[in-house]
Amino acid sequence: MGVLRDKHIVLGISGSIAAYKAAVLTRLLVRQGAEVQIVITPAGKEFITPITLSALSSRPVISEFFSGQDGTWNSHVDIGLWADAMVIAPATASTIGKMAHGVADNMLLTTYLSMKAPVFVAPAMDLDMFAHPSTTDNLDLLAQRGNFIIEPQSGELASHLIGKGRMEEPEGIVAVLEEFFSSTLDYEGKRVVITAGPTHEAIDPVRFIGNHSTGRMGIALADELVRRGAHVDLILGPSALKPSDAVHVERVTTAEEMLRATEAVIDTADIAIFAAAVADYRPRIKHTEKIKREHETELDLELVRNPDIAATLGARKRPDQFFVGFALESNAGVDEAKRKMQAKGFNAIVLNSLQDSGAGFGHETNKVTIFDQEGSIEAYELKSKDAVARDIASFIIKRLG
Ligand code: CTP
Repeated sequence: MGVLRDKHIVLGISGSIAAYKAAVLTRLLVRQGAEVQIVITPAGKEFITPITLSALSSRPVISEFFSGQDGTWNSHVDIGLWADAMVIAPATASTIGKMAHGVADNMLLTTYLSMKAPVFVAPAMDLDMFAHPSTTDNLDLLAQRGNFIIEPQSGELASHLIGKGRMEEPEGIVAVLEEFFSSTLDYEGKRVVITAGPTHEAIDPVRFIGNHSTGRMGIALADELVRRGAHVDLILGPSALKPSDAVHVERVTTAEEMLRATEAVIDTADIAIFAAAVADYRPRIKHTEKIKREHETELDLELVRNPDIAATLGARKRPDQFFVGFALESNAGVDEAKRKMQAKGFNAIVLNSLQDSGAGFGHETNKVTIFDQEGSIEAYELKSKDAVARDIASFIIKRLG
Protein backbone atom coordinates (compact mmCIF):
# COMPACT_ATOMS: atom_id res chain seq x y z
CA MET A 1 0.00 0.00 0.00
CA GLY A 2 1.11 3.51 -0.73
CA VAL A 3 1.33 6.88 0.96
CA LEU A 4 -2.41 7.11 1.65
CA ARG A 5 -2.28 4.19 4.09
CA ASP A 6 -3.79 5.19 7.48
CA LYS A 7 -4.33 8.76 6.28
CA HIS A 8 -7.47 10.39 7.64
CA ILE A 9 -9.37 11.92 4.74
CA VAL A 10 -12.50 14.01 5.18
CA LEU A 11 -14.50 13.84 1.95
CA GLY A 12 -16.98 16.70 1.57
CA ILE A 13 -19.73 16.16 -0.99
CA SER A 14 -21.98 18.96 -2.24
CA GLY A 15 -24.98 18.88 -4.56
CA SER A 16 -23.90 18.17 -8.11
CA ILE A 17 -24.49 15.43 -10.65
CA ALA A 18 -20.82 14.57 -10.16
CA ALA A 19 -21.64 13.37 -6.60
CA TYR A 20 -21.86 9.85 -8.03
CA LYS A 21 -18.10 10.00 -8.61
CA ALA A 22 -17.64 10.49 -4.85
CA ALA A 23 -18.66 6.84 -4.38
CA VAL A 24 -15.84 5.70 -6.66
CA LEU A 25 -13.45 8.13 -4.97
CA THR A 26 -14.35 6.72 -1.54
CA ARG A 27 -13.74 3.20 -2.78
CA LEU A 28 -10.35 4.07 -4.24
CA LEU A 29 -9.25 5.87 -1.07
CA VAL A 30 -10.36 2.98 1.17
CA ARG A 31 -8.56 0.54 -1.11
CA GLN A 32 -5.37 2.59 -0.61
CA GLY A 33 -5.73 2.09 3.15
CA ALA A 34 -7.10 5.56 3.95
CA GLU A 35 -9.81 6.18 6.53
CA VAL A 36 -12.57 8.23 4.95
CA GLN A 37 -15.06 10.37 6.87
CA ILE A 38 -17.79 11.66 4.61
CA VAL A 39 -19.55 14.96 5.27
CA ILE A 40 -22.38 15.69 2.85
CA THR A 41 -24.55 18.77 2.28
CA PRO A 42 -28.36 18.52 2.22
CA ALA A 43 -28.25 19.08 -1.57
CA GLY A 44 -25.58 16.39 -1.92
CA LYS A 45 -28.01 13.83 -0.50
CA GLU A 46 -30.38 14.57 -3.40
CA PHE A 47 -27.74 13.17 -5.74
CA ILE A 48 -26.29 10.25 -3.81
CA THR A 49 -27.57 8.32 -0.84
CA PRO A 50 -25.69 8.28 2.47
CA ILE A 51 -26.35 4.52 2.69
CA THR A 52 -24.10 3.86 -0.31
CA LEU A 53 -21.46 6.16 1.08
CA SER A 54 -21.46 4.81 4.63
CA ALA A 55 -21.25 1.25 3.26
CA LEU A 56 -18.24 2.19 1.14
CA SER A 57 -16.47 4.17 3.87
CA SER A 58 -17.52 1.87 6.77
CA ARG A 59 -18.34 4.98 8.80
CA PRO A 60 -21.57 6.89 9.42
CA VAL A 61 -21.98 9.75 6.97
CA ILE A 62 -22.26 13.12 8.67
CA SER A 63 -24.68 15.71 7.35
CA GLU A 64 -26.46 17.24 10.33
CA PHE A 65 -25.12 19.26 13.25
CA PHE A 66 -26.84 16.80 15.58
CA SER A 67 -27.48 13.09 15.19
CA GLY A 68 -31.19 12.55 14.52
CA GLN A 69 -31.05 9.30 16.49
CA ASP A 70 -29.56 10.20 19.84
CA GLY A 71 -29.03 13.97 19.68
CA THR A 72 -25.22 13.73 19.97
CA TRP A 73 -23.36 16.66 18.52
CA ASN A 74 -21.24 16.08 15.42
CA SER A 75 -18.12 18.04 16.30
CA HIS A 76 -16.73 19.78 13.23
CA VAL A 77 -13.84 20.93 15.43
CA ASP A 78 -12.84 17.33 16.23
CA ILE A 79 -13.11 16.36 12.57
CA GLY A 80 -10.89 19.32 11.70
CA LEU A 81 -8.21 18.06 14.09
CA TRP A 82 -8.58 14.39 13.09
CA ALA A 83 -8.06 14.99 9.37
CA ASP A 84 -4.79 14.73 7.43
CA ALA A 85 -6.56 16.22 4.41
CA MET A 86 -10.01 17.37 3.37
CA VAL A 87 -11.21 16.87 -0.18
CA ILE A 88 -14.34 18.62 -1.39
CA ALA A 89 -15.52 16.67 -4.42
CA PRO A 90 -17.73 17.70 -6.02
CA ALA A 91 -17.53 21.36 -4.99
CA THR A 92 -20.42 23.34 -6.46
CA ALA A 93 -20.35 27.07 -7.24
CA SER A 94 -22.52 27.63 -4.19
CA THR A 95 -20.27 25.66 -1.81
CA ILE A 96 -17.17 27.37 -3.23
CA GLY A 97 -18.81 30.77 -2.71
CA LYS A 98 -19.77 29.94 0.86
CA MET A 99 -16.27 28.61 1.62
CA ALA A 100 -14.73 31.81 0.30
CA HIS A 101 -17.03 34.03 2.35
CA GLY A 102 -17.39 32.08 5.58
CA VAL A 103 -21.07 31.19 5.23
CA ALA A 104 -21.43 28.26 7.62
CA ASP A 105 -24.96 27.03 7.00
CA ASN A 106 -24.29 23.30 6.81
CA MET A 107 -22.01 20.69 8.32
CA LEU A 108 -19.63 20.57 5.32
CA LEU A 109 -19.01 24.32 5.64
CA THR A 110 -18.52 24.34 9.43
CA THR A 111 -16.11 21.44 8.99
CA TYR A 112 -14.25 23.38 6.31
CA LEU A 113 -14.00 26.46 8.54
CA SER A 114 -12.60 24.33 11.40
CA MET A 115 -10.20 22.36 9.20
CA LYS A 116 -6.56 22.25 10.34
CA ALA A 117 -5.40 20.02 7.48
CA PRO A 118 -4.82 21.01 3.83
CA VAL A 119 -7.98 21.28 1.75
CA PHE A 120 -8.38 20.13 -1.86
CA VAL A 121 -11.28 21.51 -3.88
CA ALA A 122 -12.55 19.72 -7.00
CA PRO A 123 -15.08 22.02 -8.68
CA ALA A 124 -17.97 20.62 -10.73
CA MET A 125 -20.38 22.87 -12.58
CA ASP A 126 -21.59 24.06 -15.92
CA LEU A 127 -19.12 25.87 -18.16
CA ASP A 128 -20.73 29.30 -17.84
CA MET A 129 -20.92 29.03 -14.07
CA PHE A 130 -17.28 27.96 -13.96
CA ALA A 131 -16.21 30.87 -16.17
CA HIS A 132 -18.28 33.46 -14.25
CA PRO A 133 -16.12 36.09 -12.51
CA SER A 134 -17.89 35.33 -9.20
CA THR A 135 -16.69 31.73 -9.38
CA THR A 136 -13.19 32.52 -10.65
CA ASP A 137 -12.75 35.21 -7.97
CA ASN A 138 -13.93 32.84 -5.24
CA LEU A 139 -11.56 30.11 -6.44
CA ASP A 140 -8.69 32.62 -6.57
CA LEU A 141 -9.48 33.64 -3.01
CA LEU A 142 -9.47 30.02 -1.85
CA ALA A 143 -6.18 29.35 -3.64
CA GLN A 144 -4.60 32.46 -2.10
CA ARG A 145 -5.57 31.18 1.33
CA GLY A 146 -3.63 27.98 0.70
CA ASN A 147 -6.39 25.65 -0.52
CA PHE A 148 -5.48 23.39 -3.45
CA ILE A 149 -7.77 23.67 -6.46
CA ILE A 150 -8.03 20.50 -8.55
CA GLU A 151 -8.88 21.98 -11.94
CA PRO A 152 -11.95 20.56 -13.65
CA GLN A 153 -11.57 19.04 -17.07
CA SER A 154 -13.06 20.04 -20.38
CA GLY A 155 -15.60 17.68 -21.86
CA GLU A 156 -19.26 16.95 -22.11
CA LEU A 157 -21.19 18.32 -19.15
CA ALA A 158 -24.48 17.22 -17.60
CA SER A 159 -26.17 19.93 -19.67
CA HIS A 160 -24.72 18.23 -22.80
CA LEU A 161 -22.77 21.41 -23.47
CA ILE A 162 -19.06 20.95 -24.08
CA GLY A 163 -16.64 22.99 -21.98
CA LYS A 164 -14.65 23.25 -18.78
CA GLY A 165 -16.42 22.31 -15.57
CA ARG A 166 -16.34 18.54 -15.44
CA MET A 167 -15.02 17.34 -12.10
CA GLU A 168 -11.64 15.64 -12.22
CA GLU A 169 -12.02 11.85 -12.32
CA PRO A 170 -11.65 9.98 -8.98
CA GLU A 171 -8.37 8.40 -10.18
CA GLY A 172 -7.03 11.89 -10.90
CA ILE A 173 -8.03 13.15 -7.44
CA VAL A 174 -6.35 10.15 -5.78
CA ALA A 175 -3.22 10.87 -7.84
CA VAL A 176 -3.17 14.48 -6.60
CA LEU A 177 -3.44 13.29 -2.99
CA GLU A 178 -0.74 10.65 -3.48
CA GLU A 179 1.61 13.17 -4.98
CA PHE A 180 0.89 15.62 -2.19
CA PHE A 181 1.57 13.11 0.58
CA SER A 182 4.61 11.49 -1.03
CA SER A 183 6.37 14.70 -1.97
CA THR A 184 5.85 15.91 1.52
CA LEU A 185 7.33 13.27 3.77
CA ASP A 186 10.65 15.07 3.45
CA TYR A 187 10.83 15.70 7.22
CA GLU A 188 10.49 12.06 8.23
CA GLY A 189 12.91 11.25 11.06
CA LYS A 190 13.61 14.93 11.78
CA ARG A 191 12.98 16.46 15.18
CA VAL A 192 12.00 20.11 15.25
CA VAL A 193 11.58 22.52 18.16
CA ILE A 194 9.49 25.64 17.54
CA THR A 195 8.83 28.60 19.83
CA ALA A 196 5.65 30.52 19.04
CA GLY A 197 3.17 33.07 20.32
CA PRO A 198 3.66 36.02 22.63
CA THR A 199 4.80 35.87 26.23
CA HIS A 200 2.93 37.53 29.09
CA GLU A 201 4.91 39.09 31.89
CA ALA A 202 2.79 39.66 34.97
CA ILE A 203 2.61 43.08 36.63
CA ASP A 204 0.10 41.85 39.21
CA PRO A 205 -2.46 39.02 39.24
CA VAL A 206 -4.63 40.72 36.59
CA ARG A 207 -2.28 42.75 34.40
CA PHE A 208 0.61 41.86 32.17
CA ILE A 209 3.01 43.16 29.54
CA GLY A 210 2.50 41.38 26.23
CA ASN A 211 2.24 41.99 22.51
CA HIS A 212 -0.11 41.41 19.58
CA SER A 213 1.34 38.07 18.46
CA THR A 214 -1.36 35.42 17.93
CA GLY A 215 1.03 32.48 17.43
CA ARG A 216 -0.53 31.76 14.04
CA MET A 217 2.73 31.68 12.05
CA GLY A 218 4.51 29.29 14.47
CA ILE A 219 1.45 27.03 14.70
CA ALA A 220 1.15 26.95 10.90
CA LEU A 221 4.80 25.85 10.79
CA ALA A 222 4.26 23.15 13.41
CA ASP A 223 1.22 21.80 11.54
CA GLU A 224 3.08 21.83 8.22
CA LEU A 225 6.15 20.05 9.59
CA VAL A 226 4.24 17.24 11.33
CA ARG A 227 2.31 16.74 8.11
CA ARG A 228 5.65 16.35 6.34
CA GLY A 229 6.76 13.69 8.80
CA ALA A 230 8.63 15.63 11.49
CA HIS A 231 8.35 15.17 15.24
CA VAL A 232 7.54 18.68 16.46
CA ASP A 233 7.85 20.08 19.98
CA LEU A 234 6.01 23.40 20.02
CA ILE A 235 6.72 25.71 22.95
CA LEU A 236 3.69 27.95 22.81
CA GLY A 237 3.04 31.18 24.68
CA PRO A 238 -0.50 32.37 25.48
CA SER A 239 -2.44 31.86 22.24
CA ALA A 240 -6.10 31.23 21.56
CA LEU A 241 -5.20 29.00 18.61
CA LYS A 242 -4.86 25.23 18.68
CA PRO A 243 -2.30 23.23 16.70
CA SER A 244 -3.23 19.86 15.20
CA ASP A 245 -3.24 16.83 17.51
CA ALA A 246 0.03 15.43 16.15
CA VAL A 247 2.06 18.39 17.45
CA HIS A 248 3.62 17.97 20.93
CA VAL A 249 2.66 21.20 22.66
CA GLU A 250 4.14 22.68 25.83
CA ARG A 251 2.15 25.72 26.96
CA VAL A 252 4.06 28.47 28.74
CA THR A 253 3.31 32.03 29.84
CA THR A 254 6.51 33.98 30.45
CA ALA A 255 9.82 34.34 28.61
CA GLU A 256 11.63 32.56 31.43
CA GLU A 257 9.24 29.62 31.24
CA MET A 258 9.64 29.55 27.46
CA LEU A 259 13.43 29.44 27.84
CA ARG A 260 13.26 26.57 30.36
CA ALA A 261 10.82 24.55 28.23
CA THR A 262 12.88 25.10 25.08
CA GLU A 263 16.14 24.24 26.87
CA ALA A 264 14.59 20.97 28.00
CA VAL A 265 14.15 19.73 24.43
CA ILE A 266 16.71 21.62 22.34
CA ASP A 267 19.39 18.91 22.50
CA THR A 268 17.02 16.48 20.76
CA ALA A 269 16.39 18.91 17.89
CA ASP A 270 17.80 18.68 14.38
CA ILE A 271 16.08 21.96 13.60
CA ALA A 272 14.89 24.81 15.82
CA ILE A 273 12.66 27.64 14.66
CA PHE A 274 12.31 30.68 16.89
CA ALA A 275 8.99 32.17 15.85
CA ALA A 276 7.92 33.51 19.26
CA ALA A 277 7.44 37.21 19.85
CA VAL A 278 9.09 37.17 23.26
CA ALA A 279 8.47 40.19 25.50
CA ASP A 280 11.90 41.79 25.78
CA TYR A 281 11.28 43.10 29.33
CA ARG A 282 9.40 42.01 32.43
CA PRO A 283 8.47 43.93 35.58
CA ARG A 284 11.20 43.66 38.21
CA ILE A 285 8.54 43.03 40.84
CA LYS A 286 5.41 41.00 40.36
CA HIS A 287 2.85 42.38 42.81
CA THR A 288 1.06 39.58 44.60
CA GLU A 289 -2.07 41.71 45.10
CA LYS A 290 -3.86 43.74 42.46
CA ILE A 291 -2.38 47.25 42.33
CA LYS A 292 -5.08 49.64 43.57
CA ARG A 293 -5.76 52.82 41.68
CA GLU A 294 -6.43 55.14 44.63
CA HIS A 295 -2.98 54.62 46.16
CA GLU A 296 -1.00 56.47 43.52
CA THR A 297 -1.48 59.15 40.89
CA GLU A 298 1.57 57.91 39.02
CA LEU A 299 2.95 54.43 38.79
CA ASP A 300 6.53 53.65 37.89
CA LEU A 301 7.08 50.21 36.48
CA GLU A 302 10.66 49.06 36.69
CA LEU A 303 11.47 46.61 33.93
CA VAL A 304 14.31 44.15 33.61
CA ARG A 305 15.57 42.45 30.45
CA ASN A 306 14.19 39.03 29.67
CA PRO A 307 16.52 36.29 28.49
CA ASP A 308 17.02 36.14 24.74
CA ILE A 309 15.93 32.56 24.10
CA ALA A 310 17.28 32.31 20.57
CA ALA A 311 20.64 33.89 21.43
CA THR A 312 21.08 31.79 24.59
CA LEU A 313 20.48 28.54 22.74
CA GLY A 314 22.17 29.73 19.54
CA ALA A 315 25.40 30.21 21.51
CA ARG A 316 25.54 26.50 22.25
CA LYS A 317 24.18 25.17 18.98
CA ARG A 318 25.88 21.99 17.75
CA PRO A 319 27.26 22.06 14.19
CA ASP A 320 24.72 19.42 13.13
CA GLN A 321 21.79 21.57 14.24
CA PHE A 322 20.02 24.09 11.98
CA PHE A 323 18.51 27.13 13.70
CA VAL A 324 16.10 29.55 12.07
CA GLY A 325 15.01 32.89 13.49
CA PHE A 326 12.44 35.50 12.63
CA ALA A 327 12.98 39.23 12.42
CA LEU A 328 10.03 41.58 12.58
CA GLU A 329 11.16 44.97 11.41
CA SER A 330 9.46 48.26 10.81
CA ASN A 331 12.42 49.70 8.86
CA ALA A 332 16.00 48.86 7.80
CA GLY A 333 14.67 45.32 7.43
CA VAL A 334 17.35 43.53 5.46
CA ASP A 335 20.41 44.83 7.30
CA GLU A 336 18.81 44.34 10.69
CA ALA A 337 17.72 40.79 9.82
CA LYS A 338 21.28 39.94 8.73
CA ARG A 339 22.67 41.45 11.93
CA LYS A 340 20.29 39.34 14.04
CA MET A 341 21.19 36.20 12.08
CA GLN A 342 24.88 36.69 12.98
CA ALA A 343 24.27 37.84 16.54
CA LYS A 344 22.00 34.94 17.45
CA GLY A 345 23.85 32.19 15.58
CA PHE A 346 20.98 31.41 13.18
CA ASN A 347 21.66 29.43 9.99
CA ALA A 348 18.80 31.31 8.34
CA ILE A 349 16.38 34.10 9.18
CA VAL A 350 12.86 34.93 8.03
CA LEU A 351 12.23 38.65 7.64
CA ASN A 352 8.68 39.90 8.13
CA SER A 353 8.36 43.51 7.20
CA LEU A 354 5.83 45.55 9.15
CA GLN A 355 5.78 47.87 6.15
CA ASP A 356 3.97 45.35 3.98
CA SER A 357 0.23 45.70 4.39
CA GLY A 358 -1.48 42.42 5.21
CA ALA A 359 1.68 40.98 6.76
CA GLY A 360 2.67 40.29 10.35
CA PHE A 361 0.75 40.26 13.65
CA GLY A 362 -2.90 39.37 13.63
CA HIS A 363 -3.13 38.98 9.85
CA GLU A 364 -4.10 35.76 8.12
CA THR A 365 -1.45 36.52 5.53
CA ASN A 366 2.26 37.15 5.61
CA LYS A 367 4.97 38.32 3.25
CA VAL A 368 8.45 37.12 3.99
CA THR A 369 12.01 37.14 2.70
CA ILE A 370 14.39 34.38 3.82
CA PHE A 371 18.18 34.80 4.06
CA ASP A 372 20.79 32.25 5.00
CA GLN A 373 24.45 32.19 6.03
CA GLU A 374 25.49 31.09 2.53
CA GLY A 375 24.15 34.35 1.13
CA SER A 376 21.02 33.12 -0.61
CA ILE A 377 17.93 35.28 -0.53
CA GLU A 378 14.39 34.24 -1.41
CA ALA A 379 11.58 36.80 -1.48
CA TYR A 380 8.01 35.54 -1.53
CA GLU A 381 4.63 37.05 -2.40
CA LEU A 382 1.93 37.92 0.11
CA LYS A 383 0.35 34.54 0.98
CA SER A 384 -1.71 32.80 3.63
CA LYS A 385 0.35 31.88 6.70
CA ASP A 386 -0.19 28.21 5.82
CA ALA A 387 1.35 28.81 2.39
CA VAL A 388 4.21 30.79 3.97
CA ALA A 389 4.80 27.83 6.33
CA ARG A 390 5.13 25.56 3.29
CA ASP A 391 7.69 27.93 1.74
CA ILE A 392 9.73 28.13 4.95
CA ALA A 393 9.63 24.33 5.37
CA SER A 394 10.83 23.84 1.79
CA PHE A 395 13.58 26.45 2.20
CA ILE A 396 14.94 24.73 5.32
CA ILE A 397 14.88 21.18 3.99
CA LYS A 398 16.63 22.29 0.79
CA ARG A 399 19.44 23.84 2.87
CA LEU A 400 19.80 20.61 4.84
CA GLY A 401 20.31 18.72 1.59
N1 CTP B 1 13.91 36.14 20.35
C1 CTP B 1 14.03 35.27 21.43
N2 CTP B 1 14.02 35.76 22.70
C2 CTP B 1 13.91 37.09 22.94
C3 CTP B 1 13.78 37.98 21.84
C4 CTP B 1 13.81 37.47 20.57
O1 CTP B 1 14.11 34.06 21.23
N3 CTP B 1 13.91 37.53 24.20
C5 CTP B 1 13.98 35.60 18.99
C6 CTP B 1 12.69 35.72 18.22
O2 CTP B 1 11.88 34.56 18.39
C7 CTP B 1 13.18 35.88 16.78
C8 CTP B 1 14.49 36.63 16.93
O3 CTP B 1 14.91 36.37 18.27
O4 CTP B 1 13.45 34.64 16.17
C9 CTP B 1 14.42 38.09 16.66
O5 CTP B 1 13.37 38.68 17.41
P1 CTP B 1 13.07 40.24 17.33
O6 CTP B 1 11.99 40.58 18.30
O7 CTP B 1 12.92 40.64 15.89
O8 CTP B 1 14.46 40.82 17.80
P2 CTP B 1 15.03 41.36 19.14
O9 CTP B 1 16.33 40.66 19.34
O10 CTP B 1 14.05 41.34 20.25
O11 CTP B 1 15.38 42.87 18.72
P3 CTP B 1 14.47 44.19 18.63
O12 CTP B 1 13.18 43.89 19.36
O13 CTP B 1 15.32 45.20 19.26
O14 CTP B 1 14.29 44.44 17.15
